[in-house]
Amino acid sequence: MALLNKEARRHARTQKNRPLAGSLLALAVGLGAGLGAMGAHADDALPKLATKTPLKVGFAQTESNNPWRLAETRSFKEVAAKCGWQLVMTDANGSNSKQVSDIQSMIAQHVDLLVFPPREEKPLAPVVLQAKKAGIPVILVDRNVDQSVAVAGRDYITFIGSDFIDQGHRAADWLVKATGGKAKIIELEGTTGASAANDRKKGFDEIIAKNPGMTIIASQSGDFARDKGRQVMETLLQAHPDVTAVYAHNDEMALGAIAAIKAAGKQPGKDIQIVTIDGTKGGLDAIAAGELGASVQSSPFFGPLACDVAQRYAKGEKIPTWVKVSDRFYDKSNVQQSMQYGY
Ligand code: AHR
Repeated sequence: MALLNKEARRHARTQKNRPLAGSLLALAVGLGAGLGAMGAHADDALPKLATKTPLKVGFAQTESNNPWRLAETRSFKEVAAKCGWQLVMTDANGSNSKQVSDIQSMIAQHVDLLVFPPREEKPLAPVVLQAKKAGIPVILVDRNVDQSVAVAGRDYITFIGSDFIDQGHRAADWLVKATGGKAKIIELEGTTGASAANDRKKGFDEIIAKNPGMTIIASQSGDFARDKGRQVMETLLQAHPDVTAVYAHNDEMALGAIAAIKAAGKQPGKDIQIVTIDGTKGGLDAIAAGELGASVQSSPFFGPLACDVAQRYAKGEKIPTWVKVSDRFYDKSNVQQSMQYGY
């Protein structure tokens, strides 16, 4: 678009005194504006955000099947009144296509701002561009989108979230210590295609690869869900009775795995060491009970952060492309005094 306008202006300068040229310029600029409304280009500026109250904010949740998701949604509901937001909320029930259509309907309703955790990196990237084309600014929280399609700072304001690779590193570091560097590990992965699953796997696998006594003997998705984690663990326990450790990409799958391990007549925390990510109340209770070894916190409380970013952005402040959330770490050494942080 910028190119088209520049070319039209150059053409007009050279044809200055010809009346037809003036009309052509008007046509080219008009066409350019029309195309701009229809299709955003990579070099177009980010849409502005109004400073009015209330601000109509669309929050499109991925699913509500675990305490982490419920805490995330609660965090937005709680901040809405303080931030002057009138929330439009949807729940995609674990479906990428529903999350996309939920967001498209918010775009059609002309919300002032869109905030959402993209369920998977690739399927949710194009709708970020659609929002930009419609002039609606977007803040991504929790999970990110495919950066080869939509880029933070260019196509959406920012990504607010944890460093999932670092979470994987921290989980692996704990497991290496807890097992003396010798373990046969089952990895329960999160939702396939989600940035949380991709990066937690990457981080964990990187550390394990540097420890020759540690082997990942099986790695399979449990979709971040407790019952799926239990079912996958049940099957993998039969195929790999020699397993000595489990790395689950979230607490819910770890709790499912604990149920499967007990059902198989083994003792979680003794026969099999377990490390996970989230820091839910259920996870902390399992650490206190000695069944779960450790959980790296992944904070779901994005509401106040998104409010702050939106207000600063509306005032014209430059926002970093990643607002990084720092996370705690829980194991038996600090679980009792950390119970207040469980959700
Ligand atoms: O994206 C964050 C992950 O998604 C959380 O670890 C998990 O519990 C949730 O479903």
